Amino acid sequence: MDQDAIKIRLMRNEDFDAVVGIDRKITLESRRQYYELKFDKLFKSKDYVPASLVAEDEDGAVVGFVMGELYLGEYGILQEEATLDTIGVDPDFQHQGVGERLMQEFMEHMRSLGVEKINTLVHWNDANLIRFFSANNFSPSKTINLERVL
Ligand SMILES: CC(C)(COP(=O)(O)OP(=O)(O)OC[C@H]1O[C@@H](n2cnc3c(N)ncnc32)[C@H](O)[C@@H]1OP(=O)(O)O)[C@@H](O)C(=O)NCCC(=O)NCCS
Repeated sequence: MDQDAIKIRLMRNEDFDAVVGIDRKITLESRRQYYELKFDKLFKSKDYVPASLVAEDEDGAVVGFVMGELYLGEYGILQEEATLDTIGVDPDFQHQGVGERLMQEFMEHMRSLGVEKINTLVHWNDANLIRFFSANNFSPSKTINLERVL
């Protein structure tokens, strides 16, 4: 695939079905409700700065996305840390640099808004995703998540 044919743009509310579809292709389950809550939070609330992006192919079809959260604090003061929640590339378009493009543009967008650090959570067993984040200059943070089963 010609890399120049891929266009990265801000995610819109209308991208909902495409995002849910890509997620379903990756996870093999429907997480429509999860994304409904996420889209409501990010697109209907004024507390978050638009930070999520999609990748479109030359026909305008959405082939990948990255969802992030940048909270517009009280009094409209932007935070220095943002979250990268979910990244997904349609399996038919993986390993062609789309993920890397999404990641680069996400970082540039965040940097331009004054963000200094991006946090994300990755499942310990998801070696591919850990490798992808590592290749994109993420490293383990100094805090760890603790949990207790009840
Ligand atoms: C992680 C993920 C986003 C990467 O997307 P991608 O578009 O395949 O990423 P890239 O193509 O930029 O890079 C992936 C690999 O392809 C390689 N690659 C990049 N361009 C390439 C090309 N033109 N030819 C061959 N390989 C290439 C990269 O070197 C990289 O290899 P590495 O992982 O060994 O470092 C994608 O695999 C994915 O969506 N995984 C599932 C994530 C998930 O579970 N999300 C939650 C649900 S949505």
